[in-house]
Amino acid sequence: MKLGRLNHIGVATPSIADSIVYYREVMGATYITDPFDLPEQGVKVCFVNTPTDSGMNGTQIELIEPLGETSTLRAFMEKNPLGGQHHVCYEVEDIGEARAWFEGKGKRILGPTRIGAHDTPIFFLHPKDMMGQLTEIMETPKPKREDIH
Ligand code: CO
Repeated sequence: MKLGRLNHIGVATPSIADSIVYYREVMGATYITDPFDLPEQGVKVCFVNTPTDSGMNGTQIELIEPLGETSTLRAFMEKNPLGGQHHVCYEVEDIGEARAWFEGKGKRILGPTRIGAHDTPIFFLHPKDMMGQLTEIMETPKPKREDIH
């Protein structure tokens, strides 16, 4: 498996609205996406972009707020009422190859490969098998058709 860039750090928050104010006013972030719901994952999501010299494709902070009473994020929020770092997400070129790689190393994969917040296939790995970090693996987004001229 070829490890790609660190795509984002997932940060849980009790209020995306409050977090957006924090990232704008304290951290000086200028490019924050509109929040959207991911009901099948029980979260509301938005992205804070950290710019690079060449543009806006820097590593993101993925803000996640529990959505619905059965959200899997509820237990995390009970232990961490202020929110905090929830997961890290690395890109890979081929999600199927990566899944086989981690399976071959005996790492527990949490559920099926599914489409994540970036519209690209993802899966999560059990934190107890990953040096304590809930780890998300996502396939590097392909350029959209309208981006190719
Ligand atoms: Co994520």
